[in-house]
Amino acid sequence: MPATVIMGGQWGDEGKGKLTDALAPSAAMVVRANGGSNAGHTVKTDQGTFKLHLVPSGILSNDVLCVIGAGVVIELGTLIGELDDLHNRGIDTSNLRISDRAHLVLPYHPEIDKLDEARRESDQIGTTLRGNGPAYADKVSRHGIRVCDLLDPSILRRKLAIEVDSKNELITKRYGGEPIDYDSMYRDLSAWGQRLAPFITPTEVLVQDTLEAGKHVLIECAQGAMLDIDYGTYPYVTSSSPTAAGACQGAGVAPTQVDSVIGVYKAYTTRVGAGPMPTELHDETGEKIRQRGNEYGTTTGRPRRTGWFDGVASRQSSRLNGVTELNVTLLDVLDAFADINICTAYQAGTERLTHVPASLERLEGAEPVWETLPGWSQDITGARTYDDLPEKAVAYLDVLERHLGAPVRYVGVGPAREQLIDRKA
Ligand code: GDP
Ligand code: IMO
Ligand code: MG
Repeated sequence: MPATVIMGGQWGDEGKGKLTDALAPSAAMVVRANGGSNAGHTVKTDQGTFKLHLVPSGILSNDVLCVIGAGVVIELGTLIGELDDLHNRGIDTSNLRISDRAHLVLPYHPEIDKLDEARRESDQIGTTLRGNGPAYADKVSRHGIRVCDLLDPSILRRKLAIEVDSKNELITKRYGGEPIDYDSMYRDLSAWGQRLAPFITPTEVLVQDTLEAGKHVLIECAQGAMLDIDYGTYPYVTSSSPTAAGACQGAGVAPTQVDSVIGVYKAYTTRVGAGPMPTELHDETGEKIRQRGNEYGTTTGRPRRTGWFDGVASRQSSRLNGVTELNVTLLDVLDAFADINICTAYQAGTERLTHVPASLERLEGAEPVWETLPGWSQDITGARTYDDLPEKAVAYLDVLERHLGAPVRYVGVGPAREQLIDRKA
């Protein structure tokens, strides 16, 4: 029973949380692999709506061990708040485990995130301002403070004192900001560390033990492959690898232990923050998609940019990540459109592009080349099997399969748990 990766194939918010929640009961373990509280994963159940940022979306299933892997960066205040919220709603969180190798997002990280964004002026990335970029920068430049450091007060004190000094110098001298108060930061961290200590463990050992016992592990990615630090639309990306390869690294799973990669794709495209989005619609069709899909950020509440399905970017992510099965989500949002477009190439001057170029300057002014399909113009939110879907909706899914080179296994027809078709069920 090897591992399954659940990853976003676009620019995030594809519905990874919903699928993770749906598949969790079939797994022994759900491991969140990357990102931090920049992520917002929504799960809707009979108990209401859960917006998870750091806690894996398997937490609503009993008997599933939920792991925050080494690749995640953790803002402890957010994590504690999330655990309290779950507890208050009657959800048992004792099955959470936290990697002792995961890095911490400390109070100076969001501050630097904010100051750096302000300094970029018109070139802002549009980050979530959660401090993820600065925390990952500290990790790779070997200035990070990790979860294991919380467990020894003298180590925590020493490392924090060094880091806070240099960060305050940066904040005050370079950016003209307000320094971070060491004492209150230390107080919070040691209190949170004590509370979380029972859950802190070498999670890579747990993951390997689980796989060795022949049990199934689900890896939940945050963000989407087009926000990947290497293969996304750099610099308008996040600071981790939300890819299948990044999932292995962040979760502590070897590539040879993964036998399926589920690419989660919205039936259209959304993006939050700045950066190229060739299929973006600035007209009433775009607004209609936003309203029907309730396209407002889970983490920041920002209206998401909307547009038709980008077959170029999506094909690129599907190929680079070895996607074996698709979950097409929010298909119901397209119920109300007479025609539906899919972008099959970008026309940039005389050049026809079939991949997303590294240099974003080449994308400037690029126009999508469309393939137009007839809409099905009927409500599919009650569909529960593939056969319930109208012919034209199936034809649309067939075209997505062709572009992405993988079969559609799951189809989302609404936000609720039961509004998920499993073609093999
Ligand atoms: P994630 O970050 O990939 O987990 O996705 P988000 O939770 O940020 O955004 C997806 C949004 O779409 C959430 O509000 C979900 O409740 C909602 N959603 C997920 N699947 C479907 C679907 O098939 N249809 C509709 N209408 N909404 C969906
Ligand atoms: P989930 O897991 C959508 C975007 C931000 C910004 C860029 C960099 O819910 O799909 P960051 O704060 O990471 O430095 O911001 O990445 N971004 C997301 N967009 N969904 C997410 O997560 C995102 N996490 C980051 O909007 O454009
Ligand atoms: Mg989200």
